Amino acid sequence: MEKKYILILKGTILFTPTAGKFEIHPDSYLIAQGGLICGIYKDLPEKYKDLTIEDYGNSLIIPGFVDLHTHAPQFNQIGLGLDYKLLDWLNHYTFQEENKFRQIEYAQKVYEKFADTLVSSGTTRSAIFATIHPKSCQILFEILKKKGLGAYLGKVNMDTKCPDFIKENTQQSLANTEELILAWSDSELVKPIITPRFAPTSTRKLLEGLGKLALKYNLPVQSHLAENPGEIEWVQALFPEHDAYYKVYDHYNLFGQTPTLMAHCIHLTDDEIDILATKKVVPVHCPDSNLNLTSGIMPTRKMLKAGVNIGLGSDIGAGHSLFMPQIIVRAIQLSKIYSLQHEEDAPLTLPEAFYMATKGGGSFFGKVGSFEPGYAADAIVIKNENLPSELSPLEEIQRFIYTGSAQNIAARYTAGKKL
Ligand code: GUN
Ligand code: FE
Repeated sequence: MEKKYILILKGTILFTPTAGKFEIHPDSYLIAQGGLICGIYKDLPEKYKDLTIEDYGNSLIIPGFVDLHTHAPQFNQIGLGLDYKLLDWLNHYTFQEENKFRQIEYAQKVYEKFADTLVSSGTTRSAIFATIHPKSCQILFEILKKKGLGAYLGKVNMDTKCPDFIKENTQQSLANTEELILAWSDSELVKPIITPRFAPTSTRKLLEGLGKLALKYNLPVQSHLAENPGEIEWVQALFPEHDAYYKVYDHYNLFGQTPTLMAHCIHLTDDEIDILATKKVVPVHCPDSNLNLTSGIMPTRKMLKAGVNIGLGSDIGAGHSLFMPQIIVRAIQLSKIYSLQHEEDAPLTLPEAFYMATKGGGSFFGKVGSFEPGYAADAIVIKNENLPSELSPLEEIQRFIYTGSAQNIAARYTAGKKL
C-alpha cells in the first residue's frame, strides 16, 4: 500500500447516505486512499498506525457542498438589480455584465474571486455557466483546476433574441464549444458541459448542433427551464411546434439523452414532473434566486414524491450568496411557506435539504457527496464553537447550517487533496 495516497481525518463524521437521515460517527477516523473513501473507523486499524493523522478533535467532518447551478460571470453583480423579474433583470444588468468578459483581464480578476469564494465556502463541486467568450472560459477552466475544485463548466451558447454585443454566430458558437470540449474532456476534476443559455436565446440550428455535440462526446447538459411565466409564454411563441417548454430541449437531444441539469423547474405540470423522473433529468432548486426575481416556489416535496432527484444551486447573481448552507436554509423555508398552501406537501427537513446539497447533487458527478466506501473524499471540517454548554453533533450541524459562515470552516478537501 503506497503511503502518500492515504488521507486520515479524525473528528465527528456526519453525512446523509440516504435522504432524510444523518449518519453520525462521533470521534472516528475517515480514511481515503487515492482520493476515494475506504471507510470510517472508531479505532485506527493497525496498518495505518504509522501514518500522519489530521486530527480535528471533535469537530464535525462533513461532505463538501455541491452547487449544481451557478453563473461565475455574475459574481460581480451579486445583489444588484434584484427588484427586476427575470427577463428585465437579464436585459438591464446581466447581459451588460457578461459582455465585460470579452476582456480576459476582467475575467481573470472576477473568476479568481469567484473560485476563491467557492473554496472558502466549502463548495468542492459545482456546475457552472461561464459566458459566450471562449478565451475567458478557458481562463476559468484553468483557475478552477489550479484551485483543486471539481466542476462541470460550460461555455454559454446564445445566438438569437439578445443584444448584438452578446449574440454569437451559430457556427462560430458551435466551433468554439467543440474546441473547449477537446481541450478539457480528459481533465480529471474540471470537465466541460453543454450549456445553451435557455431556449429563447437559441436558434433551432444551435440547439441541433449542441445536441449533436452532447451525443458525439457523451457530455452532460445544463440549461434553464420553466423559471418565470413570461419566459414560458415567450418559449411558446418562439417554438409553436412544441406544446411544452421541455420538448424544445428534448427534440434536440438536450433533455436526458445524456445526464442533464435544468435550473429552476418551478412552473411544471404534474405530467412534466413525472417526465423529469423518467428521464432522470435533475431539476436544480435555486431558492434565493427564485425569491429575488419573484419567480415562484419549486414544488420540492411533490417532486420527491414523484421520484425526482433534486439538486440545489446558488444561481448567483440572481441568487445573492455562494454559501450553500444558506441555500439549504432557504430551500427549507420556502418549502414551509409552500406547505401552508399545500397541506399534502410537508416541508423539507434539514437532513433532506442537506442531502440535496451533498449526495443528491453530488450524484451528477458520480460517487460524490457521501462518505460511503468508493466515494470521492470531498470533505470539509467545521470548527466547533466552544460554547459554555456543549452541543450534540446533531445540534452542531443544525447551528452551523443556520448560522455558520465561511469562517467556521477549518479545512476543505476535494478528492482527497487539501485545498
Ligand atoms: N435564464 C436565462 N439566463 C439566466 C440567468 O443568467 N439567470 C437566471 N436565473 N435565469 C436565466
Ligand atoms: Fe441561472
